[in-house]
Amino acid sequence: MFKDLWKQRVKFVEADLIKELRRTKSIDENLMRAMEYSLMAGGKRLRPILLMAAADASGGSGEKFITVADALEMIHTYSLIHDDLPAMDNDDRRRGKLTNHKVFGEATAILAGDALLTLAFEVVLRQRDVPPEILLTVLKEISTAAGAAGMVGGQAIDLRSEGVQIDLATLKLMHTGKTGALFKAAIRSGAILAQASEKKLLDLTRYAENFGLAFQITDDILDVTGDEKILGKPTGSDIKNAKSTYVSLTSLDEAKRLAQETVDEALNSLESFGAKADFLRELVQYLISRDH
Ligand code: IPE
Ligand code: IPE
Ligand code: MG
Ligand code: MG
Ligand code: MG
Repeated sequence: MFKDLWKQRVKFVEADLIKELRRTKSIDENLMRAMEYSLMAGGKRLRPILLMAAADASGGSGEKFITVADALEMIHTYSLIHDDLPAMDNDDRRRGKLTNHKVFGEATAILAGDALLTLAFEVVLRQRDVPPEILLTVLKEISTAAGAAGMVGGQAIDLRSEGVQIDLATLKLMHTGKTGALFKAAIRSGAILAQASEKKLLDLTRYAENFGLAFQITDDILDVTGDEKILGKPTGSDIKNAKSTYVSLTSLDEAKRLAQETVDEALNSLESFGAKADFLRELVQYLISRDH
């Protein structure tokens, strides 16, 4: 049931992503190919799926908000293209394929990322049947989360923490930014679009914060224990770059324990939700047992 709904939503997201991408008339074909290469390379499509699931849990119909959901996947994909660049993590494989810069060259990869990020905001404005003031609130959520206060800020902490010992509080702040911010924006946007009550929005925000943290702890664990073929990206990347991660700062066992504790917190925050939040419950539990 959970897996079926997930698969169905992945298909739904992918069909819409390509539709929105093709509505954009790039004046450079090579740039467009580079954007499509990474955007349509697969991936779990977690952020759009979370946006829809949060709207469902709030009593709305998540699929109505697919256009805003697409925008989150565009921002996420841009962040991956840039994250893999030689100046950042210098990785060769992503989503089971060569990384963008390995195929198109560094300059085009940078531009493909830039273009996906800006396209995301154009796409949010293509969302239909949502009152303008609600769409503005959502734009604020997403733009704040994507930038220096969120994802990009977290990436900056990540890079300057290479090869140095940081404390756990800084590590948590880094994770909250580089990974957590976009998850939180996805979940809050879904709730806001579905016009959730203030109480539900707060509960879902707490769920999102724990979801993001558990997700990145698991990403750190998989960098050590994962199978490259299943993971679709290289393992050992963090060790190669002397990154500060939950595994390097604590231990594999402690990282696993913390991930489980964080998942339990996420589940607690959904206590007042009924069966409509079952998908969110299963998703966060699957999250720490995942292999990719
Ligand atoms: C990978 O994200 C980068 C992180 C934020 C840890 P995902 O694991 O969601 O990547 P895809 O979208 O499934 O490829
Ligand atoms: C990347 O974190 C987070 C973003 C892209 C914002 P990682 O560098 O750990 O992601 P992976 O492991 O390369 O997917
Ligand atoms: Mg990185
Ligand atoms: Mg990386
Ligand atoms: Mg990683």
